[in-house]
Amino acid sequence: MNSPIPFCDANACVAAGCTATVCRGIGLASNQVLFDRSALVIPGGVNSSIRAFKAVGGTPYVVSRAEGAFVYDVEGNELIDLVQSYGAIILGHAHPKVTEAIRNAAGDGTSYGAPTPREMKLAEAISERVPSCERVRFMNSGTEATSTAVRLARGATGRKRIVTFHGNFHGATDALLAAGGSGLATLGLPGTAGVPEEAVANTWVLPYNVVPTLDNDVAAVFVEPVAANMGLVSPAPGFLEGLRAECDRVGALLVFDEVITGFRLGSGGAQAKYDVKPDLTCFGKVIGGGLPIGAVGGRRDVMENLTPLGSVFHAGTLAGNPLATAAGLAALNELSDDVYMELSARARFTSAMLRDACSGAGIPAQFPVVGTLIGMYFGNELGTKTPTNFAEAQTTDEALYAKVFHALLSGGVALAPGAYEAVFVGLSHTDSVLDQLAVRVSTALKGLMN
Ligand SMILES: Cc1ncc(COP(=O)(O)O)c(C=O)c1O
Repeated sequence: MNSPIPFCDANACVAAGCTATVCRGIGLASNQVLFDRSALVIPGGVNSSIRAFKAVGGTPYVVSRAEGAFVYDVEGNELIDLVQSYGAIILGHAHPKVTEAIRNAAGDGTSYGAPTPREMKLAEAISERVPSCERVRFMNSGTEATSTAVRLARGATGRKRIVTFHGNFHGATDALLAAGGSGLATLGLPGTAGVPEEAVANTWVLPYNVVPTLDNDVAAVFVEPVAANMGLVSPAPGFLEGLRAECDRVGALLVFDEVITGFRLGSGGAQAKYDVKPDLTCFGKVIGGGLPIGAVGGRRDVMENLTPLGSVFHAGTLAGNPLATAAGLAALNELSDDVYMELSARARFTSAMLRDACSGAGIPAQFPVVGTLIGMYFGNELGTKTPTNFAEAQTTDEALYAKVFHALLSGGVALAPGAYEAVFVGLSHTDSVLDQLAVRVSTALKGLMN
C-alpha cells in the first residue's frame, strides 16, 4: 500500500496551519496519545533512548515547535527549555540567522555527493578557532565522530588499545561503550547488550581525574575534557596536562571529545580554556547549528591517514551536508568572545538561582558551573563537596531528581529527563527569560518536600 501521508485530524490540522508532512501534532489530543501512537512504530516511542522518561517516570512531553528559550508541546504547554537539544542549540531555537541560512541553503539543494564551498568554510572556521585542528573531516553525528576517531587513532598508530574514563560518554560507538567495574582499571566489559566482548576487549575504562600509567600498546586516550555526562565534573588541576604528557611518553594519541564543550565553553573549547593541545578533537552539536553534524579535527599528519590520502577508511553520503554546514556557519558567526562571557554570566546566575530556590524549599542540591555549563547533584551524600569522578557523581539522589524534574515540568520548566545531564542556557535565555525562570522554579519547588 502506498497511500498519501494522512493528516492527524484534517479539520484541526488545517485550522492550525499544519500540513500532513510538516506535522506539529496539532490534530492529536495529548502528549500521551501521540507518544502511545509513536510507540507503535518507534521502539519505546523515542529515537534517542535518553529522551524517554525511563529514569524519571511518566510520559515525555512531545514537542510541537520551539522558539528562542521556549518549547511548546502538542497540548500547547509552554516550557522554558534548559535542554536546548542536549547542547546542540546555543543561539536559541529557530534563531532567525540560522533559519535564514537553512532556508537559503535548502533552495540550492540539500545534498549532492560532491564537495561544497560551505563545508570548506566551516572547516576553515573550526581550524582557525581551534588551532590543534589543522585538518577537519565532517560526518553526521558526534557518535560518528568518535567512532571515526577510534578507527583513525588505531590506523595511525598501528595499535589497538583505547583508554576511556568512567562517567565519560562518547555516543553509541561500540568500542567506547564499555562499562568499567568498581572504579579500577577494567578490561573489556561491554556496557550494553549487542556489543560483544571482542569489540571492547581493547578498551580500558579508568577513573576520571587520575592520570593513568600507559604502556605502548595504547593507541589513544579518549576524554571529555570537562565531563558533562555525569552531571558536570571539571578536570582536576594537572589531569589534562598529565594525560598529554603520558600520551607523549608512550606515543599514544590524546583525543578530546568536545562534542559538548566545543564552541560552548568558548570558541576554542575546553582545550583553549585549559591550554592543553590534543592530537584529535571530536565535535558535534553546536557546529551544526542544531542540524545533524559531527567532525573530527586534528594534527595534519594524523588526519592525513584518512582516505583518500591514507588508508583509514571514512566516507558518508550526507557528510558535510549543505544545510548542516550552512546552519553551523550561521551559528559560529554569532559566537564572539563577548557572547561567551555573557553566557557564562547567565550560567552563574542560573546556577545560583537554582541553588537558592532548592535551599529555600529544603531540597539538598548543588549546581556546579564550568564556564557556560551547569551540572546538578541532589541529596546530602556529598555535603558541600563537588564530585570529581563518576563514583562520587553517582551518589546523586536520582529519586529526588525525578521529583524535582516533574515539579519543574508541571511548572513550565524543561530539564533533561536524567539526573546526569547538564543544564544548558544560551543566547535566548535573556534577563527577562531568566527572571521568568526564577519565578517558575521557586513556585514549582515550594512545598515539594512537605
Ligand atoms: C561528549 C559526547 N560525545 C559524543 C556524543 C554523541 O553525539 P551524538 O549524540 O551527536 O551522536 C555525545 C552526545 O551527547 C556527547 O555528550
